[in-house]
Amino acid sequence: MTAELPLCPVCKTPAKSHELTCSVCGYSLLTVCRGCQSPVQMQFSYCPYCGRPLDAKEILPTYRELQEQVEKNRSQLFEYANDLTKLYLKQRQLEQYLPTGLLDKVMLSDSQVVGERRYVTVLFTDVVGFTQLSAHLDPEEVFMLMNNCFRLLVEQVYKFGGSVDKFIGDAMMAIFGAPVSYGNDAERAVRAAIAMQEAIADFNQQMLPKLGKPFQLRIGISTGDAIAGTVGVEGQWSYTVMGNTVNMASRLQSAARVGGILVNQEVYQQTRNLIEYRILPPISLKGIGDSVPVFEVMGELSHSVGFRQLPSTQLSRFVGRGAELAKLQALASAARQHKRGGIAFVTGEAGLGKTRLMWEWQCRLPEGTQVWFGQCQSLTHASYEVWRQIIFNGLSLEKEPQQTVASVLLEYLGDEKWLPFLETLLFGQNVLPERFRDLEPEQLKDQIFVAVLRLLTQIARRHPLVIFVDNLQWIDQLSGELLQSALPLAVSWPVLFCIGSRPEAEILPSLLHQAEKLLDSGVVEIALPPLSPAESEALLQERLPLQNIPERLKAYILERGQNNPYFLEELASFIMHSDFVEKRDGRWHITDLEGLSRLSLPGTLRGLIRARLDRLPGVKQRILSYGAVIGPVFPASLLMAVLRHLPQLTDIATHLTELVQEGILAFDGANYRFVHNSVYETVYQSLLLEHRRQMHQRVGEEIEKQLGGAPDGQYAEQLAYHFTAAENPLKAVPYLLEAGRWASQRFATRAALDYYQTALRMLPQTPQFASREADIHGAMGDLHQLLGDYDRALEAYRQALEQVDDANRRADYSRLIGQIWQWKGDTDRAWQWFEKALGEMAHHHTEITPLVRGRVYADVGLFHMHRGDYVHAERW
Ligand SMILES: Nc1ncnc2c1ncn2[C@@H]1O[C@H](COP(=O)(O)OP(=O)(O)OP(=O)(O)O)[C@@H](O)[C@H]1O
Ligand SMILES: [Mg+2]
Repeated sequence: MTAELPLCPVCKTPAKSHELTCSVCGYSLLTVCRGCQSPVQMQFSYCPYCGRPLDAKEILPTYRELQEQVEKNRSQLFEYANDLTKLYLKQRQLEQYLPTGLLDKVMLSDSQVVGERRYVTVLFTDVVGFTQLSAHLDPEEVFMLMNNCFRLLVEQVYKFGGSVDKFIGDAMMAIFGAPVSYGNDAERAVRAAIAMQEAIADFNQQMLPKLGKPFQLRIGISTGDAIAGTVGVEGQWSYTVMGNTVNMASRLQSAARVGGILVNQEVYQQTRNLIEYRILPPISLKGIGDSVPVFEVMGELSHSVGFRQLPSTQLSRFVGRGAELAKLQALASAARQHKRGGIAFVTGEAGLGKTRLMWEWQCRLPEGTQVWFGQCQSLTHASYEVWRQIIFNGLSLEKEPQQTVASVLLEYLGDEKWLPFLETLLFGQNVLPERFRDLEPEQLKDQIFVAVLRLLTQIARRHPLVIFVDNLQWIDQLSGELLQSALPLAVSWPVLFCIGSRPEAEILPSLLHQAEKLLDSGVVEIALPPLSPAESEALLQERLPLQNIPERLKAYILERGQNNPYFLEELASFIMHSDFVEKRDGRWHITDLEGLSRLSLPGTLRGLIRARLDRLPGVKQRILSYGAVIGPVFPASLLMAVLRHLPQLTDIATHLTELVQEGILAFDGANYRFVHNSVYETVYQSLLLEHRRQMHQRVGEEIEKQLGGAPDGQYAEQLAYHFTAAENPLKAVPYLLEAGRWASQRFATRAALDYYQTALRMLPQTPQFASREADIHGAMGDLHQLLGDYDRALEAYRQALEQVDDANRRADYSRLIGQIWQWKGDTDRAWQWFEKALGEMAHHHTEITPLVRGRVYADVGLFHMHRGDYVHAERW
């Protein structure tokens, strides 16, 4: 029997045994073997490669078709690539006009409104003088002048890391701390304001002949909470901040004198150790208050060693850090012994005490050691900034005229040829003699480096020298290069370097590597850990001059202080300046311990924590937000399930691992936990209320889905929390009631009362739950009674009674009220209520259940017994 040849699927011509395509219509006659995946002619009954029978046959495309398909895919791919490139270019273009970090937030947002609650600084400035100008100049000229003047102001805003929000007539509004915070936003704003006043003074000098009258600025600056986000309608979005802080800045600007800068209390508190202020009498600001404290900027204070904002007179007693100090001291003595130098690195997050540790070591260095100290600045990135400071400070020449400086330098250098280059470093390029003006920048740099190295070796010839370079994370490029060139001195000269840095400094890894290559035993790396709990407590004890620090207050501060000395100091000072304490009879007392739960973190701390969070990529910030909505501790599985809704968030597991490595989260195999409460609070408080609601709803739904069925106990508590925060009463109330029941069973009476109270608050919005109101009041009455709070119990039972029609419940509540009056010792009233209960029973005797009947009779019996009326008692 000859096997029947298959037909071409298109033209039905029988296929010949060797054909790959149909000889009539050209259609492919290939199929694929399901066993080994090889292409095979469909005429075959068995695969020639693996021997498997070829039963169900499916036609494969011909080579030509495949080629066409590839061509089509290729051109589609080109189109996609083209679109992507255009999108990328647009994004880059957009980035120029958007504040740093905003685009990231927009791209990752899962909601239409991109917004956060943030702690920001707002600056308002108004240019006085344009109106008079308009009268005698051509409008076009006024326009040009205005533009030039605003350009100057905008430059200062950018220079200090702010962004311009809008122009309103002659006024401009700028924001510092949103969308990205640097942790010292108030300081940036004030310095920008001072720079604006200086820039406008220069502008006036040049333009006065034309203007006739100078322009002048009135500036107002305010720090506080605000909502920051995009507002507008489709196609017309703009990023801005809103809230009282903005109004305050605007009002302060109006109240400032012409040429002056006024700030609010928050700005003053955060910058008073850096800026000189005049404290003005409180003033009345429209819409804000009658006696608002205001402060006028007088100028910048000269630079001193920057322990986090505290002047050195207020230093706390130094605690702990014994091991770290010992390492540094060992480095110094080894260097002395071997007549060479060393390199120390002190790294750690803001406020951990790097500068303080360096300072303490410095105080313990042997006499005769030359100490040269410089701190890189976060605001100005002027070239050689830190070296200027190091040399001026080291030689005590800060206030000397150039000539004196030159003669001192010459004394050390011993030769004039290096002098012009050192002077250029210290006083700027203008002082470079004519004959060197043709030097290429690279050559000039080399000469300056050689001159500095010469100076350092000449000093080290006379005394051991220790050079401190603090705040490495802010070093300018040239100072960084000079530092790299100077490190080799430690190999053969008694020159010790001590470098303080936050972990994010870009130059840090290469310096560490270089140091290790130069000196293997002469390098010390100290990654500062947090203080121990006992050290934190010791520090706190000192900063809170209270008679007895209540345990709750101590716990409040220690939980939030992250064992970070600066955080602890800030929290303590925040408490000491709050209404929670007052001074009576020369001593400090706590006035309102309960109010602690209402306190939010001090702004300075939130600013710093926010700055650290802002350094994270947007994806990680979103992951943390969802984590925080679940709670300070969140199950990994729940987080993953919730984030499934957000396809734009990818690689979540990797990001979570990194967040653990970065010390922000901890993981126990099943749950993630925010390592620091203050970070959790900052993340959660940054969310807009609307976002919070949506996110809680999503989390609640996900928990319900994971549990299936009716959850009880602990899960009811969780669900009650999420649906209450989602403001979804239909969902929240049943869980609140269940949570209340569960808590009262565990004698967590106050927690149970809170659940019922919340249920009551949400109840009126849902008619179908109205009947539950009586139950809730009844349950609350029981709890108040347990706590011995008879007045509240009476009130709750009365309210329950008012809302029920059912005879059984009426009788029961009347009995309970009678019982409480009896406990309160008012037997007349007690008897009135027992009679009401008995009356209710008599009236509806068929409806009353044996249980209620039994309770009422028992209580009435007991009532008589307590009165000594045993005859009546027995009757009941
Ligand atoms: N061991 C300590 N004992 C007592 N107080 C300390 C200790 N360490 C730090 N402090 C205090 O904590 C505050 C912060 O310390 P410091 O300024 O040294 O932090 P930092 O790590 O240099 O921070 P930043 O990175 O912001 O410069 C200072 O007021 C300092 O005096
Ligand atoms: Mg420091």
